[in-house]
Amino acid sequence: MIIVKGNKTEELSRGKLEELLNNYERVVLDLGTGDGRFVYEHALREHPTFFIGVDPSQKQLEVYSKKAVRKKMENLIYVVGSIEVLPQELFKIADLLYIVFPWGTLLKSTVDPDEKTFYILSNILKPQGTLEIIFGYTSEAEPSETVRLELPEISEELISGSVVPKFENAGFKMEKLERLEKLQLKDIRSTWGKRLSFGQDRVIYRILFKRE
Ligand SMILES: C[S@@+](CC[C@H](N)C(=O)[O-])C[C@H]1O[C@@H](n2cnc3c(N)ncnc32)[C@H](O)[C@@H]1O
Repeated sequence: MIIVKGNKTEELSRGKLEELLNNYERVVLDLGTGDGRFVYEHALREHPTFFIGVDPSQKQLEVYSKKAVRKKMENLIYVVGSIEVLPQELFKIADLLYIVFPWGTLLKSTVDPDEKTFYILSNILKPQGTLEIIFGYTSEAEPSETVRLELPEISEELISGSVVPKFENAGFKMEKLERLEKLQLKDIRSTWGKRLSFGQDRVIYRILFKRE
């Protein structure tokens, strides 16, 4: 698979990745990591954990990868990939999988997941792994996204009545569903969390699932 190191790319095999993981207690993967700030901030604070940020945009990944290279951080890599084209090297790798403020087809896959989505998500996680999704959108704030992706209006009813049952049928047991207040968004430490904490009010949900 292709990893981003500063403004360069390198090939990393599963064998080499496993060598890197040897000294760590657990692995956290962030799918749709964007500029990679979320995993960077967590990797700085949680040394026993290895972090993997994945995004289709190499340019975006370079932003925090450059900072990680400068700091010689060893518990963090950035991988080019998407929910549609996920490198097989990442299968059965994560104890915890995050999807934080998804958009585009990643958002569509979160709100209206199909078999392929579940195949990928359950393959990234180790058995008993945790999936944490933080998301929210409004047709007023994102009119083109909601129409283009044919997203239904988001509400607690939609999540409890449609999104969660689909995940539960696919072997993800819901452990927690909560609404996040605007003030809590900054604590997520992702670029979009920070951005949305200053923007207009919107409802953001956090859902925790345990893979069976
Ligand atoms: C709103 S940004 C959020 C970025 C980051 N998680 C944050 O909180 O700052 C959405 C991200 O989802 C990524 N994305 C869009 N479609 C995707 C897909 N199909 N698979 C993986 N990532 C995707 C985009 O490249 C973008 O970086």
